[in-house]
Amino acid sequence: MIRIAVVQFTPVHGDKHANLQAISALMPQIDVDVIVLPELCTTGYFYTSSEELAPLAEGSEGDAVAFFSALAVSRRAIIIAGLAEVSGQSLYNSVYVFSPEGVKPLVYRKSHLFYKEFMVFSPGDTGFPVVRDERLDVSIGIMLCYDWRFPESARSLALDGADIIACPSNLVTDAWMKVMPARAIENKVFVAVANRAGSETKDGETLVFKGRSALYDPWGEAIVQTGPYDDHVLIAEIEPADARDKRFNECNDIFRDRRPDLYGRLCR
Ligand code: ACM
Repeated sequence: MIRIAVVQFTPVHGDKHANLQAISALMPQIDVDVIVLPELCTTGYFYTSSEELAPLAEGSEGDAVAFFSALAVSRRAIIIAGLAEVSGQSLYNSVYVFSPEGVKPLVYRKSHLFYKEFMVFSPGDTGFPVVRDERLDVSIGIMLCYDWRFPESARSLALDGADIIACPSNLVTDAWMKVMPARAIENKVFVAVANRAGSETKDGETLVFKGRSALYDPWGEAIVQTGPYDDHVLIAEIEPADARDKRFNECNDIFRDRRPDLYGRLCR
C-alpha cells in the first residue's frame, strides 16, 4: 500500500515566492509517499508571451527546483509538480518528478499545448515517461492537463507499465470529469488529477479553473474528490498492484485483447 496526496491549490499569478511559501505551509498536514501538485503551480497559468514568463521559469538551478528537491528528501516523498521550464531559447510547460533519494528530477514537457500556450511554450519533446520506484513498488506515468483529450497519452503510459497516471492540471472545461474516469477504466490504472482553483484575467479575458481534483481507481470510481473552489489536500491509501491485473472477467484482459493489427494509422 502507498499513501498519495492530490493537492488542489490556487497559485498567485507571477509570485513564485508566495506560491512556494503556500505549498510549504501545506506540508505539515501531508505525510504520504507521493504528492501530486497542479500544472504551473509556482507561476500561475495565463501568460501570452515567453518574455513575460521566462524570468520565473526553472533552469537546472531554478529556485523551485531546489525547493522541491529538498522537500522530497525531507518529506521522504515523490513530489510531482507542474513548473515552467527554460532550456536554451525555449520555454516548456513541464512536470518535474522529484525523488526522496535526491537524484536529479525527471522532466516531462507537455506534448499537447492548450489554447494560447503556443504563444509561450514550445511543444514537448520528451514523450510520456513512467517513473519506477522499487522501494514503494510503484510505477507512475506522467501526463499534463490537456493531454487528457488524447487517449494515446494515457494508453502509452499504461502500456509502458504505469500503475498510476499523475495528471497535474489547470483545467478550464468540465468535459474532463467524464473522460478521466474513462482513462482509468480503459487502462485499468489509477488516475490522479491535481487541478487548481481560482481564476486569472489577462488582457480582459478571464480563465476560470474548475477544481474538483480527484483520485480515480482502476474501475473509474473517485476514491476521493474535492469541490470546485477551495484549496484542498486529498489523501488516500492505494495498492498500486491493483492496476496490474488487466482482466475484468475470467475471459477478458484489456491488454491481451487489444488488436493493434486492426488499428490502422494509430499504430503506424
Ligand atoms: C490545460 O491544458 N491547461 C487545459
